[in-house]
Amino acid sequence: MFEEAQLYSPVTTGEDGTVTVHLSADHPGRNDPAYRERRNAIAAQALTWTAGTNPPVIDYLESEQEVWRTVQRELAIKHEKYACRAFRDAAHRLNLPKDRIPQLSEVTVALQPLTGFRYVPAAGIVPVKEFYGALADREFHSTQYIRHASAPLYTPEPDLIHEVIGHANLLADPQFAEINRLAGEAARRSETDAGVQFVADVFWFTIEFGVVYEGDELRAYGAGILSSYGEIEEFRSMTIRPLDFHAMGTIDYDITHYQDTLFAAPSMEGLVQEVCGFFAGFDDDTPARLVAHAGTA
Ligand code: TRP
Ligand code: FE
Repeated sequence: MFEEAQLYSPVTTGEDGTVTVHLSADHPGRNDPAYRERRNAIAAQALTWTAGTNPPVIDYLESEQEVWRTVQRELAIKHEKYACRAFRDAAHRLNLPKDRIPQLSEVTVALQPLTGFRYVPAAGIVPVKEFYGALADREFHSTQYIRHASAPLYTPEPDLIHEVIGHANLLADPQFAEINRLAGEAARRSETDAGVQFVADVFWFTIEFGVVYEGDELRAYGAGILSSYGEIEEFRSMTIRPLDFHAMGTIDYDITHYQDTLFAAPSMEGLVQEVCGFFAGFDDDTPARLVAHAGTA
């Protein structure tokens, strides 16, 4: 269990209006003053955004463009090998640029005609209920900064590369888009923090770190696996459990390292049916019902 808010480095605004992003002690950009300046500047731009207007346009540095190109190139190869078919087909239709970083507005222009999803900026912490709830309106809150160049393989906090190469490609598939939308409705329906957190936990083990069998072969559909060309090489050797929503909502996980336990759907059909069914039927009594069921199974 975790707080979604902790995923992001906290952002504060001083009395004089200066915006500061607080990177954790082990963040790869922590001791790089130029990177920290850059994170502050991008957060300051994102903070100027108001709902209903276009996302701020970020003028990406050549060094950031280079990170994007590296990750795109590495992941293109690995997605062929490890991503589920629906993701690969959707990524092909979305056709994101390989050679430069797209602006959030460009992601929306490509994505909206396919599944209705739009990208809006997140300066930093988006409260859990707001982040998930917005999915019900097909709105995805996305960071705009790029991971530190020293660690392109894996970043301990979601960046634009994760949000776009992981999530937008997935959201370009109608069935995965629907799972996201239903998760949003489930979060909105919940009237308790524990309920919203349960939705977030199941989201974590499905949309972020889900895997699925295609025949005998285990493939990834989770955006967190599909945006990391380090972690994508490891998921098949992790502990693989069958879909179990009770377990997803109760086991502990560490959000800053490779995931050691993953839940596999038996097939794409099984995945859609079970995960859609879970989110569509979710209410604040669901966790207790799952406990009772686990006890008698
Ligand atoms: N590790 C992911 C990557 O390299 C990004 C990431 C960090 C992430 N924290 C996450 C993804 C939590 C999903 C959930 O791209
Ligand atoms: Fe994510």
